[in-house]
Amino acid sequence: MRIQYFESEETMGQQAAELVLQEVKRKTNALLCTATGSSPKPLYRHLAKHDKFFANARIIPLDEWIGLSSTEGSCHSYINDYILQPLKIPIARYLSFNVNVKSLERECKRVQEWLNREGPIDLCILGLGKNGHLGFNEPADELQPHCHIANLTPESQGHHMIRGAESKPAQGLTLGIQDILAAKKIILLVSGAHKKDATEQLLSGKITTNCPATWLWKHDNVDCLILKGKTKKYVQQF
Ligand code: GLP
Repeated sequence: MRIQYFESEETMGQQAAELVLQEVKRKTNALLCTATGSSPKPLYRHLAKHDKFFANARIIPLDEWIGLSSTEGSCHSYINDYILQPLKIPIARYLSFNVNVKSLERECKRVQEWLNREGPIDLCILGLGKNGHLGFNEPADELQPHCHIANLTPESQGHHMIRGAESKPAQGLTLGIQDILAAKKIILLVSGAHKKDATEQLLSGKITTNCPATWLWKHDNVDCLILKGKTKKYVQQF
Protein backbone atom coordinates (compact mmCIF):
# COMPACT_ATOMS: atom_id res chain seq x y z
CA MET A 1 0.00 0.00 0.00
CA ARG A 2 1.45 3.35 -1.01
CA ILE A 3 0.54 5.84 1.71
CA GLN A 4 0.69 9.59 1.19
CA TYR A 5 -0.27 12.38 3.59
CA PHE A 6 -1.77 15.72 2.65
CA GLU A 7 -2.14 19.06 4.40
CA SER A 8 -5.28 20.09 2.56
CA GLU A 9 -8.21 18.37 0.91
CA GLU A 10 -7.44 20.34 -2.25
CA THR A 11 -3.94 18.89 -2.66
CA MET A 12 -5.24 15.45 -1.77
CA GLY A 13 -8.03 15.76 -4.34
CA GLN A 14 -5.56 16.93 -6.95
CA GLN A 15 -3.21 14.01 -6.37
CA ALA A 16 -6.12 11.55 -6.46
CA ALA A 17 -7.34 13.17 -9.69
CA GLU A 18 -3.91 12.67 -11.25
CA LEU A 19 -4.06 8.97 -10.38
CA VAL A 20 -7.54 8.65 -11.91
CA LEU A 21 -6.52 10.57 -15.03
CA GLN A 22 -3.49 8.32 -15.55
CA GLU A 23 -5.88 5.39 -15.59
CA VAL A 24 -8.49 6.81 -18.00
CA LYS A 25 -5.74 8.04 -20.35
CA ARG A 26 -4.22 4.54 -20.36
CA LYS A 27 -7.57 2.77 -20.83
CA THR A 28 -10.22 5.05 -22.26
CA ASN A 29 -13.15 2.72 -21.51
CA ALA A 30 -11.96 2.02 -17.97
CA LEU A 31 -14.57 0.71 -15.53
CA LEU A 32 -14.52 3.00 -12.50
CA CYS A 33 -16.17 2.17 -9.21
CA THR A 34 -17.04 5.40 -7.45
CA ALA A 35 -17.61 5.80 -3.72
CA THR A 36 -19.78 8.62 -2.46
CA GLY A 37 -19.47 10.67 0.75
CA SER A 38 -17.28 13.66 1.63
CA SER A 39 -13.84 12.17 1.09
CA PRO A 40 -13.90 11.93 -2.73
CA LYS A 41 -15.66 15.28 -3.36
CA PRO A 42 -12.42 17.26 -3.92
CA LEU A 43 -11.25 14.51 -6.30
CA TYR A 44 -14.47 14.66 -8.31
CA ARG A 45 -14.26 18.48 -8.40
CA HIS A 46 -10.77 18.24 -9.94
CA LEU A 47 -11.87 15.60 -12.45
CA ALA A 48 -14.62 17.90 -13.71
CA LYS A 49 -11.92 20.07 -15.35
CA HIS A 50 -10.83 17.08 -17.42
CA ASP A 51 -14.14 15.72 -18.68
CA LYS A 52 -12.74 15.09 -22.18
CA PHE A 53 -10.86 12.06 -20.86
CA PHE A 54 -14.10 10.40 -19.71
CA ALA A 55 -15.80 10.13 -23.09
CA ASN A 56 -15.71 6.32 -22.93
CA ALA A 57 -15.36 5.65 -19.21
CA ARG A 58 -17.86 3.34 -17.49
CA ILE A 59 -19.19 3.79 -13.96
CA ILE A 60 -20.41 1.33 -11.36
CA PRO A 61 -21.45 2.59 -7.92
CA LEU A 62 -19.93 1.10 -4.79
CA ASP A 63 -23.11 1.06 -2.74
CA GLU A 64 -26.59 2.47 -2.19
CA TRP A 65 -28.84 3.18 0.78
CA ILE A 66 -32.01 1.10 0.96
CA GLY A 67 -35.24 2.66 2.22
CA LEU A 68 -34.80 6.36 1.52
CA SER A 69 -38.18 7.96 0.83
CA SER A 70 -36.74 10.18 -1.91
CA THR A 71 -33.59 10.36 -4.03
CA GLU A 72 -32.20 13.05 -1.72
CA GLY A 73 -29.09 11.72 0.02
CA SER A 74 -28.92 8.71 -2.28
CA CYS A 75 -25.67 7.52 -3.80
CA HIS A 76 -27.41 7.70 -7.18
CA SER A 77 -28.07 11.44 -6.95
CA TYR A 78 -24.56 12.04 -5.62
CA ILE A 79 -23.07 10.13 -8.58
CA ASN A 80 -25.31 12.03 -10.95
CA ASP A 81 -24.30 15.43 -9.48
CA TYR A 82 -20.58 14.81 -8.93
CA ILE A 83 -19.72 12.35 -11.70
CA LEU A 84 -22.22 11.75 -14.52
CA GLN A 85 -23.16 15.39 -15.15
CA PRO A 86 -19.75 17.08 -14.74
CA LEU A 87 -17.90 14.36 -16.65
CA LYS A 88 -20.68 14.10 -19.25
CA ILE A 89 -21.00 10.34 -18.87
CA PRO A 90 -24.21 9.12 -20.48
CA ILE A 91 -26.56 6.91 -18.50
CA ALA A 92 -25.81 4.04 -20.92
CA ARG A 93 -22.31 3.76 -19.47
CA TYR A 94 -23.49 3.78 -15.87
CA LEU A 95 -24.83 0.76 -14.04
CA SER A 96 -27.41 2.12 -11.60
CA PHE A 97 -28.36 0.13 -8.52
CA ASN A 98 -32.14 -0.01 -8.35
CA VAL A 99 -33.13 -0.48 -4.73
CA ASN A 100 -36.82 0.23 -5.35
CA VAL A 101 -37.56 -3.27 -6.53
CA LYS A 102 -39.61 -6.20 -5.26
CA SER A 103 -36.62 -8.46 -4.87
CA LEU A 104 -33.38 -6.95 -3.66
CA GLU A 105 -31.75 -10.39 -3.92
CA ARG A 106 -32.57 -10.38 -7.63
CA GLU A 107 -31.08 -6.88 -7.92
CA CYS A 108 -27.85 -8.09 -6.27
CA LYS A 109 -27.77 -10.98 -8.74
CA ARG A 110 -28.27 -8.58 -11.66
CA VAL A 111 -25.44 -6.32 -10.45
CA GLN A 112 -23.15 -9.28 -9.85
CA GLU A 113 -23.82 -10.78 -13.26
CA TRP A 114 -23.15 -7.40 -14.88
CA LEU A 115 -19.86 -7.12 -12.98
CA ASN A 116 -18.84 -10.68 -13.87
CA ARG A 117 -19.51 -9.87 -17.50
CA GLU A 118 -18.12 -6.31 -17.71
CA GLY A 119 -15.51 -6.39 -14.95
CA PRO A 120 -13.22 -6.53 -13.25
CA ILE A 121 -13.20 -2.94 -12.08
CA ASP A 122 -10.18 -1.09 -13.47
CA LEU A 123 -10.08 1.54 -10.76
CA CYS A 124 -11.96 1.47 -7.49
CA ILE A 125 -12.28 4.76 -5.60
CA LEU A 126 -13.02 4.15 -1.93
CA GLY A 127 -13.64 6.15 1.21
CA LEU A 128 -12.93 4.85 4.70
CA GLY A 129 -15.96 4.43 6.94
CA LYS A 130 -15.83 5.75 10.49
CA ASN A 131 -15.98 2.13 11.63
CA GLY A 132 -13.51 0.93 9.00
CA HIS A 133 -16.13 -0.16 6.48
CA LEU A 134 -15.63 -0.17 2.72
CA GLY A 135 -18.86 0.53 0.86
CA PHE A 136 -21.33 -1.17 3.20
CA ASN A 137 -19.02 -4.04 4.04
CA GLU A 138 -19.45 -3.49 7.74
CA PRO A 139 -17.27 -4.83 10.55
CA ALA A 140 -18.41 -8.40 11.34
CA ASP A 141 -17.14 -11.91 12.04
CA GLU A 142 -17.33 -12.67 8.33
CA LEU A 143 -17.26 -10.52 5.21
CA GLN A 144 -19.35 -11.15 2.09
CA PRO A 145 -17.41 -11.63 -1.14
CA HIS A 146 -19.98 -10.32 -3.61
CA CYS A 147 -22.85 -7.89 -4.09
CA HIS A 148 -25.24 -8.20 -1.15
CA ILE A 149 -27.69 -6.50 1.17
CA ALA A 150 -25.94 -5.34 4.31
CA ASN A 151 -27.45 -4.49 7.67
CA LEU A 152 -26.09 -1.09 8.59
CA THR A 153 -24.32 -0.38 11.85
CA PRO A 154 -25.38 2.66 13.92
CA GLU A 155 -22.18 4.43 12.73
CA SER A 156 -23.24 4.05 9.11
CA GLN A 157 -26.79 5.07 9.93
CA GLY A 158 -25.33 8.26 11.39
CA HIS A 159 -23.59 9.15 8.11
CA HIS A 160 -24.06 12.77 7.06
CA MET A 161 -25.45 11.83 3.62
CA ILE A 162 -28.68 10.63 5.22
CA ARG A 163 -28.79 13.09 8.10
CA GLY A 164 -31.90 14.78 6.71
CA ALA A 165 -33.66 11.57 5.69
CA GLU A 166 -37.24 11.10 6.87
CA SER A 167 -36.70 7.40 7.46
CA LYS A 168 -33.23 6.14 8.35
CA PRO A 169 -32.09 3.31 6.08
CA ALA A 170 -31.42 0.12 8.02
CA GLN A 171 -29.80 -1.62 5.06
CA GLY A 172 -27.62 -0.91 2.07
CA LEU A 173 -26.77 -2.63 -1.18
CA THR A 174 -23.03 -2.96 -1.67
CA LEU A 175 -20.38 -4.62 -3.76
CA GLY A 176 -18.58 -7.29 -1.75
CA ILE A 177 -15.04 -7.32 -0.46
CA GLN A 178 -13.86 -9.76 -3.13
CA ASP A 179 -15.36 -7.58 -5.88
CA ILE A 180 -13.41 -4.64 -4.45
CA LEU A 181 -10.17 -6.61 -4.13
CA ALA A 182 -10.56 -7.85 -7.72
CA ALA A 183 -10.16 -4.24 -8.94
CA LYS A 184 -6.92 -3.71 -10.82
CA LYS A 185 -6.16 -0.53 -8.93
CA ILE A 186 -7.59 1.01 -5.77
CA ILE A 187 -7.49 4.53 -4.37
CA LEU A 188 -8.49 4.84 -0.72
CA LEU A 189 -9.26 8.36 0.45
CA VAL A 190 -9.09 8.97 4.18
CA SER A 191 -10.32 12.25 5.57
CA GLY A 192 -12.12 13.28 8.73
CA ALA A 193 -10.87 13.52 12.29
CA HIS A 194 -13.66 11.16 13.39
CA LYS A 195 -11.84 8.34 11.58
CA LYS A 196 -8.81 8.29 13.86
CA ASP A 197 -9.55 4.80 15.23
CA ALA A 198 -10.27 3.27 11.83
CA THR A 199 -7.14 4.93 10.38
CA GLU A 200 -5.08 3.60 13.27
CA GLN A 201 -6.41 0.08 12.69
CA LEU A 202 -5.76 0.30 8.98
CA LEU A 203 -2.20 1.54 9.45
CA SER A 204 -1.43 -1.19 11.98
CA GLY A 205 -1.19 -3.51 8.97
CA LYS A 206 -3.12 -6.30 10.71
CA ILE A 207 -5.91 -7.78 8.61
CA THR A 208 -9.21 -8.24 10.40
CA THR A 209 -12.90 -8.48 9.46
CA ASN A 210 -13.52 -6.04 12.32
CA CYS A 211 -12.01 -3.36 10.11
CA PRO A 212 -12.84 -4.30 6.50
CA ALA A 213 -10.46 -1.66 5.10
CA THR A 214 -7.51 -3.66 6.47
CA TRP A 215 -8.22 -6.24 3.72
CA LEU A 216 -6.73 -3.74 1.30
CA TRP A 217 -3.33 -4.92 2.57
CA LYS A 218 -4.01 -8.06 0.51
CA HIS A 219 -4.02 -6.00 -2.69
CA ASP A 220 -0.77 -5.03 -4.38
CA ASN A 221 -1.89 -1.83 -6.12
CA VAL A 222 -3.45 0.48 -3.54
CA ASP A 223 -2.83 4.20 -3.14
CA CYS A 224 -3.96 5.38 0.26
CA LEU A 225 -4.26 9.16 0.52
CA ILE A 226 -4.67 10.52 4.03
CA LEU A 227 -5.67 14.03 5.01
CA LYS A 228 -3.78 15.00 8.13
CA GLY A 229 -6.11 16.25 10.82
CA LYS A 230 -6.41 15.05 14.33
CA THR A 231 -4.96 11.79 13.03
CA LYS A 232 -1.63 13.62 12.56
CA LYS A 233 -0.12 12.66 15.90
CA TYR A 234 -0.80 9.00 15.27
CA VAL A 235 0.15 9.14 11.62
CA GLN A 236 3.62 10.53 12.43
CA GLN A 237 4.56 7.25 14.12
CA PHE A 238 4.47 5.46 10.75
C1 GLP B 1 -20.51 5.85 3.57
C2 GLP B 1 -20.59 5.24 2.18
C3 GLP B 1 -19.23 4.86 1.65
C4 GLP B 1 -18.29 6.01 1.92
C5 GLP B 1 -18.02 6.06 3.39
C6 GLP B 1 -17.18 7.22 3.85
O1 GLP B 1 -21.27 5.15 4.47
N1 GLP B 1 -21.41 4.08 2.15
O2 GLP B 1 -19.31 4.57 0.27
O3 GLP B 1 -17.10 5.81 1.21
O4 GLP B 1 -19.20 5.95 4.16
O5 GLP B 1 -17.88 8.44 3.73
P1 GLP B 1 -17.20 9.84 3.99
O6 GLP B 1 -16.16 10.02 2.95
O7 GLP B 1 -18.31 10.86 3.88
O8 GLP B 1 -16.62 9.80 5.36
